Amino acid sequence: SPLHDFIKGLPKCEHHVHLEGCLTPELIFELAARNGIPLPTDPVYTSISTLSKRYEHFTSLDDFLHFYFEGMAVLRNEQDFADLAWSYFQKAHSDGVHHAEVFFDPQVHEDRGIPYETVVGGFSKGCQRAEKELGLSTRLILCFVRHLPVDSAKGVYDELVASKHFEAGVVHGLGWSSSEVGPPKDMFRDIYADAKVKGIPLTAHAGEEGDPTYISTALELGATRIDHGIRLVEDEELMKRVARQGTLLTVCPLSNVRLRCVKSVKEVPIRKFLEAGVKFSINSDDPAYFGGYILDNYCAVQEAFGLNVLEWRIIAENSVQESWIPDERKAVLL
Ligand code: HPA
Ligand code: ZN
Repeated sequence: SPLHDFIKGLPKCEHHVHLEGCLTPELIFELAARNGIPLPTDPVYTSISTLSKRYEHFTSLDDFLHFYFEGMAVLRNEQDFADLAWSYFQKAHSDGVHHAEVFFDPQVHEDRGIPYETVVGGFSKGCQRAEKELGLSTRLILCFVRHLPVDSAKGVYDELVASKHFEAGVVHGLGWSSSEVGPPKDMFRDIYADAKVKGIPLTAHAGEEGDPTYISTALELGATRIDHGIRLVEDEELMKRVARQGTLLTVCPLSNVRLRCVKSVKEVPIRKFLEAGVKFSINSDDPAYFGGYILDNYCAVQEAFGLNVLEWRIIAENSVQESWIPDERKAVLL
């Protein structure tokens, strides 16, 4: 496309990427060997190519999550987490990412015996290296998961508070993710209420598979950003409110296609959001599983919608303005 070089050159901010979702089949096999961990017995783990092939046929969010959680078993030591984060930041840097806000799932690691400190220690080392060697600014967002008991989330939240990692700037915000439809919409009400008082920035996965009431519940609980949020278009009034409040949606087009939330990128409501004045950024979600990093997502949007330079500038500017960074950093990125 004629705008390819322009899109590649746009200074990008990524707001929706799970570090565990950057664990490629290659790295799964490498870390399994390094740590002497047997791979799952499911025959899709026979080789890198059989595993990669399986990723092309996810049937739903939960079908994907099964493989996402299986893959994590190879992460054991602090260095594994640091290497995983570093592999993502290098790729992001080559895609023109200048600032990245990245999710991680400490509950899931704790559930399989890896302490909070190991996970945060490794991921924050990867962040520090990206800041120093690539000039990328980074933010770690601790994500609660909806498929485990809320007490497990409370346990991790207590560790975050006790560690003073928020005050120290090691962890910058909180999110929630995993299975959307099923568990109570407001299961993290108490945690979010406490975190809001402490001034911790809050986001939430909502409106990916779930209807717009998942979005309104997340906003009611204190989220100031919505991850995915594509089903917002089904509630005109709520969409007007989100536009008026300037709430950012972190849209992930290739993820939506792979998880069958939409049939093609053309169905992602990019035009509708632009017309309604809803702010959004374009992101990769789980690039190792969904067949593309952030630039692939930008290009897929351009292919589907043929946006003009002005529209791209609006998207890029909103993604800087809504980043969780000080004004001085925004000024550098704009
Ligand atoms: N949705 C919900 N949970 C997730 C996702 C997602 O797209 N990726 C990783 N965890
Ligand atoms: Zn996600």
